[in-house]
Amino acid sequence: SKHLSRVLFGGIQAMKGQVQYEKRKTKDGCVAILTMDNKPVNALSQGVRVGLDQYFKEVAADSEVKAVVLTGAHGVFCGGADISEFATGVEGPMLGEVIAAMEASEKPVVAAIDGVALGGGYEVALGCHYRLASQRAQAGLPEVNLGILPGAGGTQRLPRLVGAAKSVDVMCRGAPLKAPKAAEVGLFDRVIEGDHAALIQASVDFALSMPPVAERRLGRGTADAADAALAAKRQEYAKLRPGEAAPQAIITCIEAAVKQEFKDGMRVEFQEFCKLMTGAQAQALQYMFFAERQCQKVPGLDAKPRALQSCGILGAGLMGGGIAMCCAENGLKVVLLDVDQKNLERGMSVIKKNYARSVERKSKSQAQVETILSKIHPCSNYEALSECDIVVEAVFENMDLKKKLFAQLDAVCKPGCVLASNTSGLDIDQIASATQRPEDVIGCHFFSPANVMKLLENVRGPRTGGETIATAMAFGKKLKKVTCLVGNCGGFIANRVMGVSGAAKVLQEGVWPQDIDAAAEAYGMRMGPLRMWDLVGLDLFGREREKSGVLNPEQVVFDAMYKAQRFGQKSGKGFYQYDQQRRHQRDPSAEALIQQVWSNTGVQPKTMPQEEIIENLYLPVVNEGFKCLEEGMAIRASDIDVCCVFGYNWPRYRGGPMKWAFTVGLPTVLQKVEQMGLTPSELLKEAVAKKWKMNSKDFNARILSAWTA
Ligand code: 3HC
Ligand code: NAI
Repeated sequence: SKHLSRVLFGGIQAMKGQVQYEKRKTKDGCVAILTMDNKPVNALSQGVRVGLDQYFKEVAADSEVKAVVLTGAHGVFCGGADISEFATGVEGPMLGEVIAAMEASEKPVVAAIDGVALGGGYEVALGCHYRLASQRAQAGLPEVNLGILPGAGGTQRLPRLVGAAKSVDVMCRGAPLKAPKAAEVGLFDRVIEGDHAALIQASVDFALSMPPVAERRLGRGTADAADAALAAKRQEYAKLRPGEAAPQAIITCIEAAVKQEFKDGMRVEFQEFCKLMTGAQAQALQYMFFAERQCQKVPGLDAKPRALQSCGILGAGLMGGGIAMCCAENGLKVVLLDVDQKNLERGMSVIKKNYARSVERKSKSQAQVETILSKIHPCSNYEALSECDIVVEAVFENMDLKKKLFAQLDAVCKPGCVLASNTSGLDIDQIASATQRPEDVIGCHFFSPANVMKLLENVRGPRTGGETIATAMAFGKKLKKVTCLVGNCGGFIANRVMGVSGAAKVLQEGVWPQDIDAAAEAYGMRMGPLRMWDLVGLDLFGREREKSGVLNPEQVVFDAMYKAQRFGQKSGKGFYQYDQQRRHQRDPSAEALIQQVWSNTGVQPKTMPQEEIIENLYLPVVNEGFKCLEEGMAIRASDIDVCCVFGYNWPRYRGGPMKWAFTVGLPTVLQKVEQMGLTPSELLKEAVAKKWKMNSKDFNARILSAWTA
């Protein structure tokens, strides 16, 4: 067969992206093969839309062409609309128009999906008349994660293809489905074995075997969703994604797909899309999309990571066990070492129990669990660490102990092994000083539970080497963590900034715990700060204060709780009382205790508007965030947001404390921080004086200069 290849659009006109056109001649006729091409994920930038638009016109006019196969370059079908265009404004042709024109084609159009087809990318596939996919293909409509909805007809076409109920789940969960599952749900018509060329060939053959005039599916929607079923879905997603506007808007569109003609449903989709797109949640979520990817980049770092195949872990406790699971699940060989045989056995049995639960819940198969477990080797002998590529220490939080162990690691580990500590706040450089190779020492700060929480803070000491940093970043990537490089300061980033939240102060001033928690939860925190204290346990903090002789149960609410042995969930009561299932309830005896402290200090209980509570809780966090930046402890403001979102479940749709501060306006933030009696960060003052915007060139340069200083 003769191939005719051309590239018409893109490049020349400085439009991003292009479409490649190939006219493939076969014995049964000609097929136009269109390939979306826009590195790295063929996002639907203007050049791609223009290309599709033009080529479909050309195909319609070319009587030789019998059918069209649409595919993507670079091992991907299409990653969706170009998210970076959202902020600058999208120019025509609009994606919805391009898809409508494709769908209207008189000649059969087949999507050949290899790699991912996401968002607008899958909507393009929905506009095709058939969808063939390779075994490594995935499909999904993840717009909900960006605070929007599939706005190029996805909410109207998918219900007509697979029914309303499944559509709600695909769009409101937003997680891509792998080929077999996607085919089962109906997102793909067929899955083809073999490589890209085999998929294209199968698609060409398939297209030519279909009736010459395309099938349409644009009549009235599906009957599978009664009002009651959709109402139940609304409730389900209000619980699963509390506070988020997009899932509810998606269900509104799907309702329209069920009840109305296609064109009327499209009108509903357009209205709902515009409402979401102009809202604060979409802005914050799109900001997070880029923040999350940026934070993994270290400017000026050109060192290459060392090989990573095995990980040693010191300490089989809470953290060590979680880190071991996470490493083994991602293919690393794990040596799990504990000096205490009982703790080692307990650690292993906790791991096994966790996986037994995964099998029960069907999130993992027995075979998968066995493979994972076969990678974890419990031991109590240091020599076993000698071949490891990285060792993560997770023993008790004690500097002398850590130094002793790092000296031992220095003696047994092979040259080039990364020596990492999971300390939650100790000085990495002091730990490094116990070794002869401080350039190989770094902090790898996981968050509990380490196999669940997405954040990894890599902590660079002043002597940590480039290769060590590169390897620790690659380690995080391998573990599928959101990995952020931070500076060596007490608490690092997430714990440091969240640690100064104003909860204790507001409580002390006469606001009830349930009101504080309700405000934080309404803001979107998964758990209010006092419930969080009950979970973490008040005893640690109280014992420290007792030791340093500052405990004051008459005048300080936290100390009164500690003295009354109300340690939180572990003692069944804290700020609240807990039942067997650890559900919390208000507790009159806790409230009496709090009231007593208030009366001792002459404080009247008061109600405070939720907005004011939030400011009291989180403006100190913002101020501390600016201090981290001015001290060179973070590379960018958005990294602090990433740490709070992934380390503390700060609601993603709010974008994190720094984003919030810029939304409130820095002058207001500064004024309120001063009113609260806090020492404002110098950088905050400078940013106000110079009217810096978030991510502006000068602001970023100022932060980076502190980091590199
Ligand atoms: N628009 C613009 N840039 C995108 C993009 C998109 N849709 N998808 C990915 N990118 C960029 C990333 O920012 C990153 O850039 P960088 O290298 O400069 O940091 C680069 O492409 C590679 O991305 P990843 O690092 O995420 O690469 P992976 O291989 O790990 O993942 C992916 C690829 C699965 C496609 C992932 O990037 C992804 O999930 N992308 C977003 C998909 C999505 O949400 N699509 C919906 C967009 S909204 C839409 O379509 C609206 C429509 O309904 C109208
Ligand atoms: P843990 O008390 O659950 O476990 C510590 C384990 O270390 C015990 O099993 C103990 O037997 C073992 N151990 C003690 N000395 C040892 C030695 N010489 N060699 C080998 N093993 C030894 O403690 P946890 O909570 O897992 O904390 C570990 C580290 O992680 C600490 O530095 C802590 O600050 C840090 N961390 C804790 C977080 C948490 O939420 N618990 C979060 C992030 C970091």
